Amino acid sequence: MEIVVLTGSPRKNGNSSILADNFIKGATKKGHNVIRFDAAFKKVQACIDCNQCRTGNSCILNDDFNSIKDNLIKADMIVFVTPMYYFGVSAQLKTVIDRFYSINVELSTPKKSALILTYADTSAREAEPIKNQYEIFLDYLGWQDMGQIIASGVWTEGAVNNTDYPKQAYELGKSL
Ligand SMILES: Cc1cc2nc3c(=O)[nH]c(=O)nc-3n(C[C@H](O)[C@H](O)[C@H](O)COP(=O)(O)O)c2cc1C
Repeated sequence: MEIVVLTGSPRKNGNSSILADNFIKGATKKGHNVIRFDAAFKKVQACIDCNQCRTGNSCILNDDFNSIKDNLIKADMIVFVTPMYYFGVSAQLKTVIDRFYSINVELSTPKKSALILTYADTSAREAEPIKNQYEIFLDYLGWQDMGQIIASGVWTEGAVNNTDYPKQAYELGKSL
């Protein structure tokens, strides 16, 4: 499969990045081709609702989203990796997701997907808004969830290394 991994953390060696690395290792081992797009280190502007994309034109924003757009359209699987920021996905990742609006039609083909989330607290309830958002946009796009890694209780950079989550991320990648 062609897999695109979209990450949303500005911490280069942060918890979600470590889980993304492990997922990619597992998926690559299985022979999948993985492209990683680290949104926090790219220039992606927020959608301005000009609706040019609704009148037969391409998105008027000219930035790094263009470098991943075709890969997203062609991908068999898109994986969302994010730290929890104030009970939502990070703004860096959300900005990329909002830009899906310009390619809604092209993205609405059967694809697989997965969610990898890291957060400091341990309450499962706090992860519900992000899980719901993910599941609802999967329904909207007609994509299939292949797994979710909800890594709670990890706050400091690298804390996830002391947990079982990296192994779970690797296994998820390898299970595909
Ligand atoms: C702006 C900001 C908002 C955060 N909001 C939450 C939150 O709502 N709930 C929580 O448990 N942790 C929150 N955290 C902690 C991060 O989710 C946690 O440290 C996570 O492991 C970071 O992942 P990363 O290392 O991949 O960046 C927040 C951190 C930041 C910087």
